[in-house]
Amino acid sequence: MIGGWFTFLPPRIEDAEREDVSDLADLQGLSFLREWSEGEIALLMAGTGVFALVIRRGAPTASRRSIGFVLVRAVADEAEILTIAVHPRWRGRGLGQKLMEAAMRKLYADRILKIFLEVESGNEVARALYERLGFKVVGERKGYYAAPESAVPDATPATALIMRREMTPPPRPRKGTRNGGPEPDKAA
Ligand SMILES: CC(C)(COP(=O)(O)OP(=O)(O)OC[C@H]1O[C@@H](n2cnc3c(N)ncnc32)[C@H](O)[C@@H]1OP(=O)(O)O)[C@@H](O)C(=O)NCCC(=O)NCCS
Repeated sequence: MIGGWFTFLPPRIEDAEREDVSDLADLQGLSFLREWSEGEIALLMAGTGVFALVIRRGAPTASRRSIGFVLVRAVADEAEILTIAVHPRWRGRGLGQKLMEAAMRKLYADRILKIFLEVESGNEVARALYERLGFKVVGERKGYYAAPESAVPDATPATALIMRREMTPPPRPRKGTRNGGPEPDKAA
């Protein structure tokens, strides 16, 4: 019953690979009205400063399917969360938060401390997640989304909130000590 035992392993977060693109397109399509084709996702992933993290279940040797992902673009010392989605069946179990924290740790390790994202104002779940991670609303774009991402087509264009999180720079290593592992400050 090794397979059964593996199902209790915690989901693991890994860098996305080229073969993940179709899963990512599926997850995006399940999560937003505006779908992204595999080609669009592949193009984004190949862009400068872009990385994607996926979350998988079970044993490393078993299922490669992704149940969530986050796509991030870093330019100079800032980064933008391009999208994040968790499979509907797996929502509300802390996976979105884990993905965001992993992305933030990766950025922090590269000394990219400012992170921006856009979220539809009515997307309470995503807003709660970002606020919990220390993101603050710093601006808004009215009528930005042609239709609310979470609602029916033809609805009133929705407002996009721009949120920002600034991580505390790591302390300078003291002479003669090793620079310890990077750790975003506690809200992350
Ligand atoms: C937004 C999304 C990625 C969150 O992923 P998730 O795995 O469900 O979120 P988590 O379980 O990690 O929850 C983290 C926090 O989000 C908030 N949250 C999650 N589910 C919630 C719900 N149903 N109601 C209210 N808040 C909720 C809470 O603050 C939660 O922390 P808590 O459980 O300790 O209270 C996921 O809901 C999703 O894929 N939504 C569709 C796509 C989307 O809207 N993406 C964001 C675009 S900007």
